[in-house]
Amino acid sequence: MNCIFVFSCLAGLSLGLEVHQSHSDLIKKAGDKIQIFCSHERTNYRVMLWYQRSPGDTAMKLIGYLYFKDVIMEDGYQKDFRISGDLGGETAKNGSLIIQTLEQVHTGVYYCAAREAQ
Ligand SMILES: *[C@@H]1O[C@H](CO)[C@@H](O)[C@H](O)[C@H]1NC(C)=O
Repeated sequence: MNCIFVFSCLAGLSLGLEVHQSHSDLIKKAGDKIQIFCSHERTNYRVMLWYQRSPGDTAMKLIGYLYFKDVIMEDGYQKDFRISGDLGGETAKNGSLIIQTLEQVHTGVYYCAAREAQ
């Protein structure tokens, strides 16, 4: 069996923001689909960003982000990743990152961050 490790962590870009992520430590196998949720209580934060940090790499690479309910994906991430959620209402925010079919190359640490829309 070909196992890969996907760890999710969290980071709020703004001090004092408490962001909750659904799995702090995920171990999945190749071929699985995963969905990582990220939620917080800042009702006026309408941007949610998702980052990837690959093992042995210090760079946090932007996968894409939600802007209200629009999804903006960065180059190179359109094929394997999906972002979903609707940050438009006046309620607590809840978005997710989906990896359609896990492969070894997806091993890494995934971060979500939130901020206001400018
Ligand atoms: C976010 O949405 C998902 C799917 O609808 C749900 O399972 C999860 O409990 C929600 N998280 C929070 C903190 O509301």
